[in-house]
Amino acid sequence: MSEFVTREQFIPYNVPDITELEINEVVETLKSGWLAKGPRTIAFEKAFAEYVGSRHAVAMNSCTAALHVALLTQDIGAGDEVITTPMTFASSASTIVHTGATPVFADIDYRTGCIDPDAIEKKITSRTKAIVPVHYSGQVCDLDRIYELADKHGLFVSEDAAHALWSRYQGRLIGNGLRGTASYSFYATKNLCTGEGGMLATDNDKIAERARILTSHGMSQNAWNRYAKGGKWRYDIVEPGYKYNMFDLQAALGLKQLERMEEMQQKRLKIAARFQESFGKLDAIEIPQVPEYGLHCWHLYIIRIVPELLDIDRDEFITELNERNVGTSVHFIPVHLMSAYQKQFGYREGDFPNTEKHFERIISLPLYPTLSDEQVGYIIDAVTDLVEKHHK
Ligand SMILES: Cc1ncc(COP(=O)(O)O)c(C=O)c1O
Repeated sequence: MSEFVTREQFIPYNVPDITELEINEVVETLKSGWLAKGPRTIAFEKAFAEYVGSRHAVAMNSCTAALHVALLTQDIGAGDEVITTPMTFASSASTIVHTGATPVFADIDYRTGCIDPDAIEKKITSRTKAIVPVHYSGQVCDLDRIYELADKHGLFVSEDAAHALWSRYQGRLIGNGLRGTASYSFYATKNLCTGEGGMLATDNDKIAERARILTSHGMSQNAWNRYAKGGKWRYDIVEPGYKYNMFDLQAALGLKQLERMEEMQQKRLKIAARFQESFGKLDAIEIPQVPEYGLHCWHLYIIRIVPELLDIDRDEFITELNERNVGTSVHFIPVHLMSAYQKQFGYREGDFPNTEKHFERIISLPLYPTLSDEQVGYIIDAVTDLVEKHHK
């Protein structure tokens, strides 16, 4: 490689891809006089369900809300156990705690970073009620094996699809052919973003109905429409619920982002292919391995450094990338290493060797549709230069 020259401008880790299309729809919504949950939220739910191929989609203010509600629809609570992965964001586990149940972690498959079905099996007890598999980074979990375990032990499956809109398992979009639920995130960094927002998809009528009620304070159906002409002012609270609904300004963004989903994804795929090709040549970098059953939506592009071949560790690698004006992140600090989970549930360092080995090595690089060819080339050069400079 010719001598590396640090560029002047910093490449942020993430920049949302928002165009005039989304901006105009938000402005139209502001002018429409209906800002809360209303026609655009309903339209977004419908369009989203059609897109993923689920019977229902219930829009919420976050994926965290959707994950919580998914478990509540099954009456999961105190005394129950729910199995999830420690290699995830806090919400996959905290929503289990919020129901009163105990989060039980199972180690990852080092290949994909997703929960390992063999590890799940070892954690199933008579108290286990559900599994929350996380389609980590956009890789898909080994769903056939997970549903096999669920069937054998009568467990509910709440897929955490926060990263996995567009990902496919055996050729089918995550959310298509669901037997439990899938929860998606539209947080600012996600492949489809509404700033904050989430969606619960299901094919089950009862789950969808209960989820709608739980997200709107426990109000009887269609309460959002009570201010419209002909709307009914009288409502009942059928169970104490939550204020978890999406509203129309978010849905305005979501509707237009969904229209642009394929265009945005194609850009992601092109960038990911360039990264895979270039980093695949570096022996001190492990690139993501996509199993034969999956199609990766590249929400996150995560490399693993091979510390044995370098004279710096992951943290120093990140610092040096930052000095070269490349923003990065780490997904995730394992949840079992968080003090709250150690104090409340007794987890310790060393409990999940694959997760911890993975964590010590990972770096998330910038990958978003608005990255220019020049920026992508620069990121590749910066990583390559660091590997060459620090190779033992
Ligand atoms: C794996 C995973 N699950 C759940 C969530 C929660 O999503 P939200 O921020 O929409 O609540 C996130 C957030 O990034 C996540 O990464």
